[in-house]
Amino acid sequence: MKIHCFSSIEEINRAISNLKSQGKKIGFVPTMGALHEGHESLVKQAKAENDVVICSIFVNPTQFNDPKDLEKYPRMPEKDVNRLELVGCDIAFIPGVSDIYPNGNKMLDIHFGKMEETMEGAFRPGHFTGVATVVDRLFNIVQPTNSYFGEKDFQQLAIIRRMTNMMGHSTKIIGCPTLRENDGVAMSSRNLLLTTEQRNAAPLIYKALKQVETFIPYHTPEAVIALATRYVEQSMFLKVQYFQLVNNETLEDIKSWEKGTKVQGCIAVLTEGPRLIDNVSYSL
Ligand code: PAJ
Repeated sequence: MKIHCFSSIEEINRAISNLKSQGKKIGFVPTMGALHEGHESLVKQAKAENDVVICSIFVNPTQFNDPKDLEKYPRMPEKDVNRLELVGCDIAFIPGVSDIYPNGNKMLDIHFGKMEETMEGAFRPGHFTGVATVVDRLFNIVQPTNSYFGEKDFQQLAIIRRMTNMMGHSTKIIGCPTLRENDGVAMSSRNLLLTTEQRNAAPLIYKALKQVETFIPYHTPEAVIALATRYVEQSMFLKVQYFQLVNNETLEDIKSWEKGTKVQGCIAVLTEGPRLIDNVSYSL
């Protein structure tokens, strides 16, 4: 089936009303484009679980705290639409900034407390308000039955679950596993911006996250963090911005190992180019 592309709100509204009147289940995959197999895996899962799949491509300016990062973010809408068609996406929604923010960059007045102050939130002020604002706006437009997000952005997924609850959206949030390259590097649109040296060093990040499993039985959380950091920083091209071991629901730091707790190891690594994030879960 040929994919339909919409950019105006009016057009997509018409298409959504039509689908809703036919009682179709809508699966929704919000993205910022520069699509890779990670995004495609979300579309494939949505396809398997819904009648119609809608993918949005919108590089959301309000979630970028660094203007250079926004400027450099890879954009390739035509290639993206081709990829989406090949994996069976029915509708690509590619709005402009004024479609999403008709009243200037008016942000959602929503707060997530500690959840947005830790990890990404601590280093990217305002980032999650921007994410919550755009996802809320997209949910209002698309009115999805099910919405698909990657565990690759673990904190984002937790915040979107919370926002969905707080705003009373009826869509079900579905977390999907992280897709990796053969050498373990988590797929990311930002990987396109890595130099060969940075890309060659990047597998250390996931290796460190896996090594942590072997450190846990013998070390305190604090010592594990130091060991994992040293492991990544074997490479002169990588600098750990944070590595945190957190409760996978509250995102609070783990102070000691308590049996039964689900711990998420979350890492952000600086290169001289893009900043990379990854995470892995550990069962105690
Ligand atoms: P983007 O980075 O384009 O990611 C779109 C979706 O793909 C997110 O849910 C993300 O977690 C998921 N994803 C990215 N890499 C993945 C991988 N390697 N494996 C599985 N899933 C992966 O995340 C955003 O865009 C934006 O913040 C957005 C939610 C669209 C709001 O603007």
